[in-house]
Amino acid sequence: MIQLGVLASSRGSNLQAIIEAIERGEVDARVAIVISNRPEAYALARAASHRIPARVVQEEDYPSRLEHNRRIALLLEEHKVDLVVLAGYDRVLHPEFVRAFPMRIINIHPSLLPAFGGGLHAQEDALRHGVKVTGCTVHFVNEDVDGGPIILQKAVPVLDDDTEESLSLRILQEEHRILPKAIQLFARGSLRVVGRRVMSADR
Ligand code: GRF
Repeated sequence: MIQLGVLASSRGSNLQAIIEAIERGEVDARVAIVISNRPEAYALARAASHRIPARVVQEEDYPSRLEHNRRIALLLEEHKVDLVVLAGYDRVLHPEFVRAFPMRIINIHPSLLPAFGGGLHAQEDALRHGVKVTGCTVHFVNEDVDGGPIILQKAVPVLDDDTEESLSLRILQEEHRILPKAIQLFARGSLRVVGRRVMSADR
């Protein structure tokens, strides 16, 4: 069983999906710690209600993002985390942090990368652009924002009467499926990264 460190900045519905998938026995992992950069994040309450250790590490309490990220890395190491999961973490990680966990950080992004990457408004951007299909992506995190090797993607149609809210909700339902699935593929050791491609025996 692998130990997860989940970084979440707000609502935490992806954290909830991970917790429930573990409870259903679909993911062979344990959430060792939840860390938020925002004290008001509802993700913290979700962790507390499942008796998962949760910590707030605020950027403004540190002289730089590097120092802030070093504190997070220390907490993750103290909790013997095997895989860092960015589940709605709204800040870019310092390259030193990324290098400290090579191919051991994954992120969920609400678009089919590389489309609509690099920002916090992927669903709005997809609507504005007029695409007919968007979706979500789980990828390894490297030093290029939203640019790491892709583990899983799921396509979602854009409907004529969609608003940002309705589209986001449809995408979110798929996020809640592919994020736990990607964690389970990692936990089973079945992911193999070859250049930009991620191969999996049991996808
Ligand atoms: C999700 O849409 C995720 O793709 C994006 O931020 C949102 C987080 O939602 N990175 P939640 O906090 O997991 O509910």
